[in-house]
Amino acid sequence: MFLRTSPVITFIAVATASAFVLFVILGGISRFRVNGADSGGEWPPGSKSNTVPLAPRPITGKQGSTAGTGVTNATLGFEKVFVLNLEERTDKRDSLALASGLTGIKLEFVKGLRGAAVVDKALPYGVDRKTMDAGMLGSWRGHMNIVRTIVEEGLSSALIMEDDIDWDVNLKAQLLQFAEGSNYILNTPSKGQPHSPYGDSWDLLWLGSCNSQFQEDVSPKIEGPDLRKWAIKDDPTVPDLTHIGRSDKGDGSVNYTDYPEHTRFVHRTGTGICSFVYALSAAGARKFLYSMSVNGLWGTYDNQMSQMCTKQSLGMQCVHVSPPLFFSHRPKGRTGGDSDINNPEDFIREKPETQNIVFSTKINAERLIMGLDPLPQW
Ligand SMILES: *[C@@H]1O[C@H](CO)[C@@H](O)[C@H](O)[C@H]1NC(C)=O
Ligand SMILES: *[C@@H]1O[C@H](CO)[C@@H](O)[C@H](O)[C@H]1NC(C)=O
Repeated sequence: MFLRTSPVITFIAVATASAFVLFVILGGISRFRVNGADSGGEWPPGSKSNTVPLAPRPITGKQGSTAGTGVTNATLGFEKVFVLNLEERTDKRDSLALASGLTGIKLEFVKGLRGAAVVDKALPYGVDRKTMDAGMLGSWRGHMNIVRTIVEEGLSSALIMEDDIDWDVNLKAQLLQFAEGSNYILNTPSKGQPHSPYGDSWDLLWLGSCNSQFQEDVSPKIEGPDLRKWAIKDDPTVPDLTHIGRSDKGDGSVNYTDYPEHTRFVHRTGTGICSFVYALSAAGARKFLYSMSVNGLWGTYDNQMSQMCTKQSLGMQCVHVSPPLFFSHRPKGRTGGDSDINNPEDFIREKPETQNIVFSTKINAERLIMGLDPLPQW
């Protein structure tokens, strides 16, 4: 390979290559930046390595309690983790409590409500009960109650989750990588300590969506899209291309076939669908409370979220991760119970599934209880 080059160049090349290999081995998962100019193009030469060891066990409560302010603590680097749950869905709460217990996460359950509980007089400007169905209205109000709590309690940040969510047993390790990415996207100064381990200037971190786009792919075009991406490469927790589930239909999402397999991206939100899991900062919560209640409401909750990010309404700063770190879980049993917003077709599902999540915590629950290594879904 290095024939006919001078010994000096050979030495430099070999040294660089060895340093890279060492970096990959020591660093666990290698990372590199994709800048706007070479988006999807210039991948570092010689980076075919896939030496990433799978984390055999989740980082759980123990590390959480010693790392009080970090990403791996019991509230994942946020002040609180809220879960929106209809009280009668004890099945979803049981399943989520178990998953969080197995991975060292402290949850606070918040009662969801039905659309009928929102009286006409309380409807925000712009809402038409005839076009916004009851399920959507109930979901909006449930999320909004949590947003308001963040504002009322003066929380610096909170993670908000719907109650059917699942994550990889490696979540905390993944969040450490995500935090590097979000600090990069947000241009966190290298000196000084940001208040949030994810960086200071974010309003929303969209960690679990069912569909997402890079800013440059949004139509109509975003003016001055941020093309930068932070790529987490050779990530064993990213499914291979045949198993990356996009949204139900798969249209309009990030086209992963354009990039090396097993790459995860941290990027500015172009658009997103589904409010599975997202974090709001104190500033983000105030912007939500204003834009989606006090000032009016025009669409479904996730749709409004997406528009606020796309349009950067009130200066919204939204950071996204694709493929997502959280996704809704489909347990075995009656499919009619999948959604509380609409009524899915009812049949018996024999095998549980969670799209996009390789080492699913819920699917591995029995193995984790038994102290066995988790298995990938695919
Ligand atoms: C986790 O870290 C965040 C961010 O520093 C902090 O606000 C939160 O209180 C910590 N949680 C716990 C349980 O220590
Ligand atoms: C995705 O990217 C691949 C490779 O560049 C291309 O062949 C394919 O047509 C793209 N798919 C869509 C839906 O744009």
